[in-house]
Amino acid sequence: MRILSIVGARPQFVKLGPIARAFRERSDIDHVIVHTGQHYDPLLSDVFFSDLGIGKPHVHLGVGSGSHGEQTGAILSALDSVLSEYAPDWVLVYGDTNSTLAGAVAAVKLHLPLAHLEAGLRSFNRRMPEEHNRVLTDHAADLLLAPTQVAMQHLKDEGLSSRARLVGDVMTDVCFATRDAVANQNPTLPEGVLGDYVVATIHRADNTDDPDRLSAIIEALAVLSVPVVLLTHPRLRAKASAFGIPLTQGSIRPTDSLAYPQMLRTVQCAAGVVTDSGGLQKEAFLLQTPCTTIRTETEWVETLADGWNVLDPTLALVREAAARPRPTAKQAMPYGEGKAAELVAQTLVQEGR
Ligand code: UD1
Repeated sequence: MRILSIVGARPQFVKLGPIARAFRERSDIDHVIVHTGQHYDPLLSDVFFSDLGIGKPHVHLGVGSGSHGEQTGAILSALDSVLSEYAPDWVLVYGDTNSTLAGAVAAVKLHLPLAHLEAGLRSFNRRMPEEHNRVLTDHAADLLLAPTQVAMQHLKDEGLSSRARLVGDVMTDVCFATRDAVANQNPTLPEGVLGDYVVATIHRADNTDDPDRLSAIIEALAVLSVPVVLLTHPRLRAKASAFGIPLTQGSIRPTDSLAYPQMLRTVQCAAGVVTDSGGLQKEAFLLQTPCTTIRTETEWVETLADGWNVLDPTLALVREAAARPRPTAKQAMPYGEGKAAELVAQTLVQEGR
């Protein structure tokens, strides 16, 4: 059976890691990887392929940046000939980016069976491009591979139960395996950072694209009582520079994005995380580091149990990000034990017959 994965942005490369490994271990799967080129900076792309042992993509579309319409349209039109050439038994799309939606539309237009990994997540915030992408992809797909019970319920509420399968969360697979592999390493910290520190990332359009909002977030981070290791996404750097907002302020130590293994170790050793990333909220939860999320809602609602993660759209809690104690109750395992990718492979083979 031939399965063609379409990926393009950083979180998708992380999910592809355990999937590529699980597919490699089966003689009945021929796996083709298509990289759309949505993320092209080596730190956002190449390092994930090498660190997670994925190997080179078979096809690179090289679409690069643009408005949502331009980017989605460019991927869609470039995919036609690729999908026709490889004629896969399944097209597999991941998560909620513009690459996901373009891959989904390209597949259904060519009548190719479409599977969506990480189906059923919802923020119910229609301002987020990711929300349109995931809702539209779920409704287009033939097979919905859901990570959690909550995701299964969302799919049921939308009349999609018959196509939904609970497979668990592949990000947990790669998170646990990598955590164990780097358990003896030191965290990767900017020079001069010793003792307690907070890891921060900000990249959502709602937080970066309005100068007042971005300025308020940077000021809230600057007054923390411990160093704030701010991992700067290209969008954050571009917007801060365009608005004349210096990132080196107070406690903030801006630094480049980290490769995945170093990122996990640095988060695991941190006193707290402040973020607007979906994936990082969950990684903080899995690594048992308290997280403060600068958003009004989260798709990963399980992380809120016992206070491991708190939503802080008004920036009232950021100041305490390093001081919040780790919850003491035994943590539940809503994201599985780290074996989801094998089940994804098995489900695709069974359902593809
Ligand atoms: C995308 C995803 C988001 C995901 C995030 C992870 C969509 C709608 N959003 O957001 O869900 O959480 O990736 O990072 O697909 N840029 C570079 N180099 C790159 C990539 C981007 O400089 O390698 C710059 C460009 O100026 C670009 C901007 O960053 O316009 C935003 O990049 P884009 O891929 O459009 O969205 P992200 O904000 O990364």
